[in-house]
Amino acid sequence: MSIIKNDFEKMSISKIKKAKNTKKLTVITAYDALFAKLFSEIADMILVGDSLNMSFAGKNDTLSATLEQMIYHTNAVCNGAKNAFVITDMPFGTYTNKNQALENATKVYAQTNAAAVKIEGGEDRAPIVEHLTKNSIAVMGHIGLMPQYVRSEGGYKVRGKTQEDIEQLIKDAKAIEKAGAFSIVIEGVMSDAAKRISQEINIPTIGIGAGKDTDGQVLVWSDMLGFFEEFKPKFVKHYLNGAELVKGSVEKYRSEVQNGTFPSKNEEY
Ligand code: KIV
Repeated sequence: MSIIKNDFEKMSISKIKKAKNTKKLTVITAYDALFAKLFSEIADMILVGDSLNMSFAGKNDTLSATLEQMIYHTNAVCNGAKNAFVITDMPFGTYTNKNQALENATKVYAQTNAAAVKIEGGEDRAPIVEHLTKNSIAVMGHIGLMPQYVRSEGGYKVRGKTQEDIEQLIKDAKAIEKAGAFSIVIEGVMSDAAKRISQEINIPTIGIGAGKDTDGQVLVWSDMLGFFEEFKPKFVKHYLNGAELVKGSVEKYRSEVQNGTFPSKNEEY
């Protein structure tokens, strides 16, 4: 299958903002150079999500991801995807107040080529987002179901089920927009609510588990390529049966090692 890449244009903050109501944005996570290279010049943005703590490091949630880890993986992604617009997740506990947030986001900018950082939180976090944007750090917001709140909220809960919650989410989105964010991830929100939020703000919303009416979509690469086998969240679509393909290939390799057909003359010096 050949992939036509000639409609790819390297993203910038202004192009991302202009995409609102014009072009749906495609975002995918990556944690290493190899996959980032494959995704680059196809996806509009690459997110080095703190989901790497789960899918890469095998932990139960994202909370123990560290800034050093995020910087390490962001450098790997930037090395592999030289033309990509790369966003780094600020991990849990690294932006609890304005000064700490600025110090840590500055480290991300100083030590990597990330174009922006992502921060979870609504109205409560708007002053932190504002402090970063006023200090020349580009920020993507993240509202709705926020994985870094999993322990304090007692689980992952879909949002936007009541009128009151929808109103709160709209306030959150507006506050983050006013604070200077260039885009907002809306995660785990009822589709009608996500549609309303997207209509109420002027910056692009990027949905995950938020229906089709956001301004773009983001998926975790290992989910959408079918490598994560434990369960499939409702919002994930498998575009590849990665786990099956990998296991089948490794089984074939093992049997060829055992029966002596690998290496053959072709693979010999
Ligand atoms: O960490 C991550 O990969 C994310 C996406 C799910 C939006 O925040």
